[in-house]
Amino acid sequence: MSKNAISNSVIRRLPRYYRFLGELENNDYIRISSRELAEKMGLTASQIRQDFNCFGEFGQQGYGYNVSELRTEIGKILGLDSLKPMILLGAGNLGSAIAAHLDFKNRGFELIGIFDANKSLVGKEIGELKVTDIEELEDFCKERSPEAAILCIPKDAAVTEAEILISYGIKAFWNFTHYDLKMAYKDVIVENVHLGDSLTTLSYCINSLDKK
Ligand code: NAI
Repeated sequence: MSKNAISNSVIRRLPRYYRFLGELENNDYIRISSRELAEKMGLTASQIRQDFNCFGEFGQQGYGYNVSELRTEIGKILGLDSLKPMILLGAGNLGSAIAAHLDFKNRGFELIGIFDANKSLVGKEIGELKVTDIEELEDFCKERSPEAAILCIPKDAAVTEAEILISYGIKAFWNFTHYDLKMAYKDVIVENVHLGDSLTTLSYCINSLDKK
């Protein structure tokens, strides 16, 4: 089945399946039933069967799923079999933490450049890279053709830089700023991350528990 036919809600669940299957592989699991996987993941067996049926005939009656095959297939659907070159703008608190601690390669990306407008940060080592002056962005993009960018800069700067990045060929953004990129550019791929929204959801959950 083609990727396009898989619904967005299934795609959203795939990284978690991928992670769990990786843990099972590390624990020497060869196969697992949908019931056992459901128990481990806090889902229902029928949900798991439905999800996996979207992308092929993996399960076998009485056998379950081959852990390694299923993980490989999910990895392919997630595009993890090719590394997309990515850059990061903003080597401040958030950007530095992301650049230093995230395992990009296991998530389908290679971080190839970190840029900042603050000259005092230029040359600073973060992980395997050094912070580059934002003034060198154009030449860098011409030479290395990054496909995706992480935005860890102030909102106002994001408004300006997003337009520039798109003109340099960036197609996808991992956006931590509060700039609503998708409203401004319909054709770019945007994944917004808002830790604050997640925290607010936690507040809601505690609040609704109190009212029961
Ligand atoms: P910070 O002030 O520590 O870092 C921002 C960095 O961006 C600075 O090093 C600054 O020199 C650089 N910068 C400014 N203009 C630039 C430009 N045009 N090009 C390149 N670099 C530029 O700020 P922090 O705390 O790291 O936050 C960064 C962004 O992330 C902010 O927009 C903030 O609101 C947002 N944020 C989002 C979170 C989320 O969950 N989505 C959580 C925390 C922060």
